[in-house]
Amino acid sequence: MSTSVYIIILPLMGALWWFFHLRSKERRSKLPPGPAGLPIIGNLHMLGELPHRDITKLSQIYGPIMYLRLGSVPTIVISSPPLIEQVLKTHDTVFASRPKTQASKFLSYDNKAIVFKEYGPYWRSVKKFCTSQLLSTTKIESTSWQRKEELGLMVESLRGAAAAREVVNVSEKLARLIEDMTCRMLFGKSRDERFDMSKVIPELACLNGLFNVADYLPILGPLDLQGLGRRFKVAFKTIDNILETIINDHEEDARNSNVKLNRDFVDVLLSLQNDTFPGFEQLSKSIDQSNVKALILDMLMGALDTSHNSIDWILSELVRNPRVMKILQAEIESVLVHNFNWELPDGSSHAEMDMSETFGLTMPRAKHLCATPCVRLP
Ligand code: HEM
Repeated sequence: MSTSVYIIILPLMGALWWFFHLRSKERRSKLPPGPAGLPIIGNLHMLGELPHRDITKLSQIYGPIMYLRLGSVPTIVISSPPLIEQVLKTHDTVFASRPKTQASKFLSYDNKAIVFKEYGPYWRSVKKFCTSQLLSTTKIESTSWQRKEELGLMVESLRGAAAAREVVNVSEKLARLIEDMTCRMLFGKSRDERFDMSKVIPELACLNGLFNVADYLPILGPLDLQGLGRRFKVAFKTIDNILETIINDHEEDARNSNVKLNRDFVDVLLSLQNDTFPGFEQLSKSIDQSNVKALILDMLMGALDTSHNSIDWILSELVRNPRVMKILQAEIESVLVHNFNWELPDGSSHAEMDMSETFGLTMPRAKHLCATPCVRLP
């Protein structure tokens, strides 16, 4: 290349570099404070196995509104109640849509349900439908007898364990109870010997919570470095088969005109396809079987691990704090029908209880809570 070409190109490159440097500096200066990131991965190296804890520590340094770059994803972390209120309440509609991830694509049948569907007319309509048909106070009250029945069965099994002085896997029992209650409301029956949901739902919740490099550095997605793509496919196939069986059963019942005293959620969703709901005519036109499956899965994912893990943690804290347990027992004594005290296995002390968590959508206990029930009230 001749010297004259260099004389033109070099200053041009210098000017371009200066222009982009200034622009990125200007853009950065408009962002909230945050730790400096590395090229390509940004701040990803600062997050470990429990990223919510690392983010808490960082926000104690950088303040209640912090900027992180997770691979190619710009991320703002809000950690003060007034700011959270601004995001979740005041400007709710601006922030209503959740980011699409590799997991969300599988979990919501390509974003066809409530949780991952972007905010808009379909989302509003489908959410209104689910709230009125499944989650309204009238609906919840009309199915309370089913939950009482399931609770009664669990109490009976705890009485049996108390009489035999057996250690009970409380976490597992709670998971089963919530699963049975939820399935009765959604599908009309608690257990089905043809399939087992107790493994696939926690696997889906775990996959949805796991750090997936493909979401932050999409260029690496096709390599499936963590083997998550394969796990998504296996879990999705399992749940899809289960949902297909449930829907087929309900369709068969409808074809045989089997009269049901209590229509469950799947019955209601399937009848939506036949346009029998005033006010939801547009929704019924845009719903096919994959939307129905996505909505059932949303409800399963929304209800199972959240409820189970909340109660699991509450009970663990109460077992660990006998003083608080006593105060609570005294407070609710007048409304209690059954009541148990809990003894830890092998004489281990409350202070020694393992309270570690694993990272996931619902932060489950790392180890199941196991204890022996002792009947307190007859
Ligand atoms: C203790 C139990 C529960 C906890 C702790 C819990 C927690 C949450 C949280 C934190 C959100 C996100 C809210 C947001 O982003 O604004 C959420 C959303 C949701 N939950 Fe729950 N939940 C529980 C029970 C349930 C149950 C029983 C169901 C269904 C039967 C359910 C269905 C949903 C659905 C569909 C969404 C998405 C709503 C939307 O995108 O607007 N949840 N839940």
